[in-house]
Amino acid sequence: MSWSSFEDAPMIGRTLYVLLAITIISSFDVVLGGSNPSILDAPTLTQKIGTNRTIKVGLSGQKGEINSIQAAIDSVPDGNTNWVIIHVRRGVYREKVTIPEKKPYIFLRGNGKGKTAISWSHSSVDNTESATLKILAPHVVVFGLSIKNDAPTGIAFSSQNQSVAALVGADMVSFYHCAFHSTHNTLFDYKGRHYYHNCYIQGSIDFIFGRAQSVFRNCEIFVVEDKRIEIHGSITAQNRPASNEGSGFVFLGGKVYGVGQVYLGRAKGAFSRVVFVKTYISNTVVPEGWSIWRYDGGSTENLYQAEYKCYGPGAARDKRAKWAKQLTDKEVAPFLSIDFINGKDWLPAWF
Ligand SMILES: *[C@@H]1O[C@H](CO)[C@@H](O)[C@H](O)[C@H]1NC(C)=O
Ligand SMILES: *[C@@H]1O[C@H](CO)[C@@H](O)[C@H](O)[C@H]1NC(C)=O
Repeated sequence: MSWSSFEDAPMIGRTLYVLLAITIISSFDVVLGGSNPSILDAPTLTQKIGTNRTIKVGLSGQKGEINSIQAAIDSVPDGNTNWVIIHVRRGVYREKVTIPEKKPYIFLRGNGKGKTAISWSHSSVDNTESATLKILAPHVVVFGLSIKNDAPTGIAFSSQNQSVAALVGADMVSFYHCAFHSTHNTLFDYKGRHYYHNCYIQGSIDFIFGRAQSVFRNCEIFVVEDKRIEIHGSITAQNRPASNEGSGFVFLGGKVYGVGQVYLGRAKGAFSRVVFVKTYISNTVVPEGWSIWRYDGGSTENLYQAEYKCYGPGAARDKRAKWAKQLTDKEVAPFLSIDFINGKDWLPAWF
């Protein structure tokens, strides 16, 4: 119905439309509220975390607000054991931010990706040095925040510095509705168990890399071009050196698309483990799908580069690398939920 037909409607009709509208709006309320497990919003997380300690960060100079995220984190005492909410209001915060090892139980809450952003510009050969956000403490939850490293990639075929947006180097860290923007080495998923829920991750080369044990639920992976190299980049570069190590990246649902040409993963260790489950893959992914590139050793025998029921033009199986796996129902079972990261023991919310 158009608005003009609404105007023309007789009184009784209008009343019915209004009642209908109220019904629709209130059913939206139910969907968006904490009661629906498939929508994990900030109130849901706040309720699960169960604290009323909030530090407010803002850029408009309002009373009671600090204007630096790092200053807010610094005000949390070392050895903290009670959850603290750091509520970062809308705006672009030009700073590097570190959550140090001794400050666990921080809930860093933005107003939404694209509304609240931490941004810095640093390109280096040292992935710890270039990172805009570094999380070194366990028990950290991040919601609704964009994290950017906007260092220029440099001219074509020049030396390859990296620009990390976030380094996640502690156990039990989760991200909900966040965005990671950079090119080369965007997300340093360094170590520990992590959960990424409905996040946007953008990059060109090895842009999700490290030795962590992580589940990426419903994430959007966007591939950008890198003109410095002739070979294809890779979405993941997972580093798993031994079979008894629990690390690995598991992507559940979500989509992979973009403007460059990449592999789903290149091995960064002899036991490198990456699994894409029911993910949409556009033809931004090359037909071979996977690469060993330069990892030491060279054997493909112990690599776990796997897919299960992925779909889309980039998911075609006929030209896939010989060692890459298409998992059976039985083989995929350990990777289908947050049990892969023992999430029920420590995550505030999931699905
Ligand atoms: C909220 O803060 C007050 C005062 O510090 C405290 O007494 C109360 O228990 C807190 N409530 C919750 C749910 O943390
Ligand atoms: C590359 O990184 C090195 C330090 O690691 C730095 O000295 C140099 O300026 C960086 N180059 C660019 C183009 O940023």
